[in-house]
Amino acid sequence: MTRQLIKYVLKSDAIDQTTTISGWIRTRRDSKGGFSFLEINDGSCLNNIQVIANNTLDNYEDGVKKLHPGASVTVTGQLVKSAGGKQSVEIIADTVEICGFCEPSDYPLQKSRVSLEKLRQVAHLRPRTNAIGAVMRVRNALAFATHKFFQEQDFLYVNTPIITANDCEGAGEMFQVTTLPVGKTDEKQLDYAKDFFAKQTSLTVSGQLEGEAYACALSNIYTFGPTFRAENSNTSRHLAEFWMIEPEIAFADINTISDVAESYVKYIFKYVLDHCPDEVELFNKFIDTSLLEKLTNVVDNDFIRITYTEAIDILLKTKKKFEFEVSWGCDLQSEHERYLAEEHFNAPVILSDYPKSIKAFYMRANEDGKTVAAIDVLFPGVGEMIGGAQREERFDVLKERMEESGLDPEAYWWYLDLRRFGTVPHGGFGLGFERAVQFCTGMTNIRDVIPFPRSVKHCEF
Ligand code: 4AD
Ligand code: MG
Repeated sequence: MTRQLIKYVLKSDAIDQTTTISGWIRTRRDSKGGFSFLEINDGSCLNNIQVIANNTLDNYEDGVKKLHPGASVTVTGQLVKSAGGKQSVEIIADTVEICGFCEPSDYPLQKSRVSLEKLRQVAHLRPRTNAIGAVMRVRNALAFATHKFFQEQDFLYVNTPIITANDCEGAGEMFQVTTLPVGKTDEKQLDYAKDFFAKQTSLTVSGQLEGEAYACALSNIYTFGPTFRAENSNTSRHLAEFWMIEPEIAFADINTISDVAESYVKYIFKYVLDHCPDEVELFNKFIDTSLLEKLTNVVDNDFIRITYTEAIDILLKTKKKFEFEVSWGCDLQSEHERYLAEEHFNAPVILSDYPKSIKAFYMRANEDGKTVAAIDVLFPGVGEMIGGAQREERFDVLKERMEESGLDPEAYWWYLDLRRFGTVPHGGFGLGFERAVQFCTGMTNIRDVIPFPRSVKHCEF
């Protein structure tokens, strides 16, 4: 008899047939009537299946009655209509095969609810909880929907390098990659000519630059990979290792790029609403009671589109006091972004045309000489989820911007080549995958939406 996933068994109408399931015990309750109820979960869905284990089973006394939360079992038995309770079906066990017992005194996930903070300390066990299991199923749905969306739109999936010699965002927040014995020498004396790649290299902060090379040949591409930033920001929205989706579109201007960003986010959020209703309901009940409404609003309504300059006007006019003062030219702080997305509009906002002095070198200079064709998409609750831009496709303008930004054009010779040989207007954006998962689950801390979070001073597991 092959094992079936509990999610299918719970919906099955194969009543009276022999069924096999496997999973981990959530609870055991012994009845005076000479049998035990086992609640079993295998992670395929939120719900447990109830198994009735009679004391006539061979291993009832020295097996079944020693099952505690966390123990693993395979059960074969008859699927029957559930007499009472929440579920429509349950299994009357013919055999309960015990794979592994679980000592109650040592197991951190006992019946009572454990806080999300505590669960982070047992990140290897927390996927067994309802909350983290549900987050991971939503994360999976968002990843699948991402590929589905881009594949349906004829974007090619491109794998850009993880080890690189460029600093795409020019922020210098890179993790160095080296085989030199760093501990033994003064850092200044590291001789990169003797290093593995014979130059200084690091983990990528973005696959964009390489993505551009492929868009400038294959028209529409996207990447979906891990990204690394040694940002010293210990916040609920930053990780040192996170995942980013970066589409890049050739022959496109900033409006096309904004349109793709908006339809992509709506598509993946709708996919979650359609395919993870139990998970969304759980989060709506226990994490954020307005989650369902927020998700539906994003899917059903147009995003607000305003320029940076218009946003500054709004921020200057409001009576709200900010910790960081606002003036044209300043970088928006998360308090400003959240005010716009949460309080002022209460909707996703696409902010465009930022001052060039606060944005990366590759963004296309606008005619006004002051701003660049950049967008950030701000969401209530999580702030910036997407950053993107039309790229500077004019060779001379780009080279000058690089020099202004302190980058050596020679190190980026290949990136400049894309402007020498058949340059085209093009652009794209990066969506921070964990921030999207945060929005869809209502999780306030980004460390709870990635299996094993890496952040400042934390790289356990
Ligand atoms: O705005 P960013 O820095 O943009 C880029 O990297 C561009 N190269 C993207 C592109 O145009 N192809 O990062 C993009 C998104 C942010 O909006 C944010 O959602 C997420 O990546 N992000 C982080 N997520 C978690 N932890 C961090 N430390 C993050 N830094 C950025
Ligand atoms: Mg950004």
